[in-house]
This record gives sequence, structure tokens and C-alpha cells, in this order.
Amino acid sequence: MILRTIKEEEMEHTVGLFFGSDTGITEELTHDIVDAFKNIEVKEISEAKAEDFKPYDFILLGLSTWYDGDLQSDWETFFDEFKTIDFTGKKVAIYGLGDQIGYAEYFIDGVGMLAEVVLENGGEVIGKWPVDGYRHTDSKAIIPNDEAYFYGLALDNDNESHLNEERITGWLDLITKKL
Ligand SMILES: Cc1cc2nc3c(=O)[nH]c(=O)nc-3n(C[C@H](O)[C@H](O)[C@H](O)COP(=O)(O)O)c2cc1C
Repeated sequence: MILRTIKEEEMEHTVGLFFGSDTGITEELTHDIVDAFKNIEVKEISEAKAEDFKPYDFILLGLSTWYDGDLQSDWETFFDEFKTIDFTGKKVAIYGLGDQIGYAEYFIDGVGMLAEVVLENGGEVIGKWPVDGYRHTDSKAIIPNDEAYFYGLALDNDNESHLNEERITGWLDLITKKL
């Protein structure tokens, strides 16, 4: 589903956003993120191909984590293809949904799994987010040599939905400065 399209002549500075959502929470919060950008194209990862990432120098990735540290189901299906993408010269910002209480050991693991591929394939991951204030016990999203930060934005709609807006706004401020 395309949430918003832009005119072809505006393509040069367009942001590409790819997301996957099982029960619709990531999708819901994706709307808030999309609204912050003038030129953005949005695609569900279930409908994406590796070549769809090509036109964008700035990419946003959104996903939830499921079943003790697994990628959201559509991201899981796409993951092998995702690994073939050349991210050289691209800036990538990732936001993840998770449950820091129910799945404390695997909190937003998917963010870390995507970030590792982006880095391995030559991209830059922007928008690291402080781990401070969350109650997880472990996460693949924690940056190995910079453990005070997650690779991207951590959202916990299950336990802290009241913080969604504040967190999204703060993170968008961070990443839009890097554009
Ligand atoms: C069965 C089940 C397993 C889950 N596993 C994890 C997990 O391993 N790590 C995590 O951070 N969140 C986990 N969650 C929480 C979801 O990621 C969270 O509810 C999220 O908001 C769902 O977003 P979505 O509707 O966009 O898929 C799990 C939730 C359920 C119901």
C-alpha cells in the first residue's frame, strides 16, 4: 500500500520508507513518521523488491520484533533479498516496535538485525537512540561498541504508548538534521 506518493520531478530528494507490521501497530505509527516529510514514498516490505531501494539516498526502515527475537514476518520473508542490497552512499534510519517487559531479552532485536546488514553492505546507520529509560535486559539493537545506544528508535506501544509521540518527535529531530 502506498500511503503517499510524490510527483516524479521531485524524486531526487525523496525519502524511501519501507515497513512491515503484523498487527498494525508499526503501520499506525508509520503514519506519524511519514507526516514529518515533504517528499516521501512509502512501501510495505511485503510488496518490495531489492531494486526498490535504489532511488533513495535516505531510507527509513520500520519493523516490529516477534517470537523471541525474530523479524516481523514480512521482513523475515524479505531478509535474504535485503542482504543483497548495496547500501553504499545511503543513510538509513531504523525504528522498531517491541515489548520491553514481555520480551525483555529480545527487545526490538529486529532493529539490530537490519542495522547489521546495512552496515555490512556499505551503508551508514543514522538516528541512534539512547537505551536509558528502557527496562529491557538485552537487545540485538544495542550498538556493540557504543552500548548506551540502540541503532535506531525504540518504541514500546505495549507498555509505554504514552511516550510514542515524544519519542517519535525527538528521533525525527535527530535524523532530519542529518539529511
Ligand atoms: C507472540 C509475540 C511475540 C513477541 N516477541 C517480541 C520480541 O521477541 N521482542 C520484542 O521486542 N517484542 C516482541 N513482541 C511485541 C511486538 O513486537 C509488539 O507488540 C509490536 O507492537 C507489534 O507491532 P506490529 O503490530 O506492527 O507487528 C511480541 C509480541 C507477541 C504477541
